Amino acid sequence: MIANSFKITIHMVASLDGFIAKKNGDTSWMQSTDHFKKGVTLTEELIADILSSIDCYVMGSHTYEHALKLGWPYGDVPVIVLTHRNFEPERESVQFYSGDLTKLVNHQLKPKYTNVWMVGGAKTTKEFLQLQLADELIISFMPILLGDGLLFFDYIEKEQKLHLKDVAAYKDGMVEMSYDILK
Ligand SMILES: NC(=O)c1ccc[n+]([C@@H]2O[C@H](COP(=O)([O-])OP(=O)(O)OC[C@H]3O[C@@H](n4cnc5c(N)ncnc54)[C@H](OP(=O)(O)O)[C@@H]3O)[C@@H](O)[C@H]2O)c1
Repeated sequence: MIANSFKITIHMVASLDGFIAKKNGDTSWMQSTDHFKKGVTLTEELIADILSSIDCYVMGSHTYEHALKLGWPYGDVPVIVLTHRNFEPERESVQFYSGDLTKLVNHQLKPKYTNVWMVGGAKTTKEFLQLQLADELIISFMPILLGDGLLFFDYIEKEQKLHLKDVAAYKDGMVEMSYDILK
């Protein structure tokens, strides 16, 4: 039997106190000026290597709007945007979806893709975790306390056991933790 390699990873950048966005939308806190001597250098090659393995992104509409404003970072990789609204399509690689996320995963993502990244935001992360649709969680913690903002884990209201499978500390003080979501 061929093993199904399909996987959904939730990935976001967070402050150490667990926020993914400031209330005023400022994202400069994601660029760290810290210097951790023993850290790994996050090279362009390393980033390109990770990104090249992702064959689809899923995101909530607020994250989509934010990405359009900041400059589209997803290239031509297929992106599914969750929304109840009617957006004018701005890019060929973007499709819009509304409704049952289990159906989206089983009927649209699983048959087509192997490595799907769900890249936020908080509302969409909550749905994916509550519905047990994600297999992996990667949090990149920046060396900062924001004190206020939008929480990564916004009261998921259910316990979820995790398996820590990797930790990487980078030169800029970012610590990336990767977990399997146990089912
Ligand atoms: N730090 C990071 O790595 C990171 C990553 C991503 C985002 N962010 C930040 O997080 C913020 C956005 O997060 P957020 O929690 O406000 O919003 P979000 O999760 O990006 O989007 C929520 C919206 O997605 C749509 N949606 C979700 N599930 C749906 C479903 N099953 N069917 C149809 N539509 C569905 C709805 O859109 P409609 O209202 O259009 O119907 C909902 O209002 C932004 O400030 C962004 O910059 C940070």
